[in-house]
Parts: sequence; C-alpha cells; structure tokens
Amino acid sequence: MRDLAGIHSMKSDSLHPSPNRRRFFGQMCGLGAVASGMMPTFLEAKDAMQTIANPRLFTFIGGDSGAWQVIARKTVIGEPLPTVKRLDIVIGEVKELPENALWKLSGVTSNERYVTRSEKDQLTAKQVTIGRPEATHAAMIPIRKNSKWWALTQDERRAIFEESSHHIKIGMKYLPAIARRLHHCRDMAEPQPFDFITLFDYTKADSTAFEDMVAELRTTEEWKYVEREIDLRMVRDGK
Ligand code: HEM
Repeated sequence: MRDLAGIHSMKSDSLHPSPNRRRFFGQMCGLGAVASGMMPTFLEAKDAMQTIANPRLFTFIGGDSGAWQVIARKTVIGEPLPTVKRLDIVIGEVKELPENALWKLSGVTSNERYVTRSEKDQLTAKQVTIGRPEATHAAMIPIRKNSKWWALTQDERRAIFEESSHHIKIGMKYLPAIARRLHHCRDMAEPQPFDFITLFDYTKADSTAFEDMVAELRTTEEWKYVEREIDLRMVRDGK
C-alpha cells in the first residue's frame, strides 16, 4: 500500500484482519465466549494482538530503495548516521533490516503535549497533511534531547518550548507551505537512538523558506537541549 508521500505498508494484511482473525476477536470480545468456555488464554490473546499493525507506527529505512532520494545530509550535533542513498517510509513495524539497508528508525504519531487550545485551533485551521502531490521535497530530522530536558516537568518544558523559544509561533509562519508529522520514539518497545523523528514536505519553491525556519529554530533555547540531530533532505522519485 503506497500513498502520495511514497509511504507504504509492509503489513497491509494486518491492517485488514482476515475473516478468521475477525471472528477470533469477535469471539474474544463477546460475553458469549466466556459463557461457552471459548475464551482464549492470555497468551493466545496477546499473540493475536501483536499481529495487528499499529497505524500510528512508522518505520524509516535508510538504504538504497524507497521513494525518496536523499540529496543532502548533515550531522547537526552528535553521532552521525551512516550515509544512505534513499529513504523508505513504511507504515507499521519492520522487524528485519531489509537487505542493503543500513539503518531503520521507528516512531509513533501521538497526542500533543504542549499546545494550548488557542494554538491547537490555529494549527488546525492552517496546517495540511503530509503527502500533497506537489510537495516533491522533504526533510527528515531525527532528534534526541538530553537528560536535563527529560528531568524537567511538563510545565518547565512548555515554558522553554514556547514562552521562551516560540517553537509554535515560528513554525506557524510557514503553514500551510510546510506540512509536518511528528513521531515519538521514547516509548517504543525496542530502545531507539532518537526521541523524535520529524518529517516535513514542501514544494521546491518553498525549500528556502524551510531552511530559514530550521535555522531560526536552531538558535532557540529549546535547541540547547538537543544532543543529537541529523538532517536529511530528499526529493521524490524523478522530481
Ligand atoms: C512547519 C513548522 C513547524 C510547526 C508548525 C511546528 C509545530 C510543532 C508543535 C505544535 C509541536 C508540539 C506538539 C505537542 O504539543 O506535543 C512541535 C513539536 C516538535 N517539533 Fe515542531 N514545528 C515545526 C517545525 C519543526 C522543525 C523544522 C523541527 C526540527 C528541526 C521541529 C521539531 C519538533 C520537535 C523535536 C518537537 C517535539 C518537542 C518535544 O516534545 O520536546 N519542528 N512542533
């Protein structure tokens, strides 16, 4: 399953459970299962649950295949990532690193942590979803913040994020030209090398605006807490 952003699912069958699996879940969930003694054991249920892909989970595979051709890479801070020619963005979990791939990173989209009601309403009114056909350019920027950041309370982080660094205010200026999707990595079952994977797409004409925005964000107090950041720029096949 491939969409306009060149994103596809490796486990489309898991997104659409087979009639047998649906029946199994129906039986599991119905009171009838208990009454008829058909209730599965905990382990059977756990096993079945694990085959259902999480549609909020994305895997980013760096290698020599995928819809996105990597045209520039920069290690902003911290340990580099091995250089790759292409990026594949897959919906769901990828257990094995594909042949000729050098790395894979995973993260999930989630609820917001910092936005106020008024910011959320403004964002909703202005932002667009990643994957517009004309958005042939993209940036993938994995980021890890340091232990000082994570030792702060939610209120303290919010104060740095917005009141002092104006992350949302700065970003909002570039909507709807830039589309973004934030993936959280800290609570994945497998430990991840980054806390966030940020993904953006835009037209060729908006590439310079994107550079201006990233440069401005990197001067803020929030970025003093960034201890690892890699910046990959891509173009969609043939663009
Ligand atoms: C299109 C412009 C942008 C907008 C509108 C924007 C907006 C936002 C918003 C609203 C959040 C908070 C979500 C929440 O409440 O949990 C957020 C978080 C974040 N953004 Fe941006 N952003 C933009 C650009 C960028 C860029 C260019 C980067 C990376 C270079 C970036 C990196 C992040 C990171 C790492 C977080 C998570 C922060 C944390 O939870 O500690 N953003 N962004």
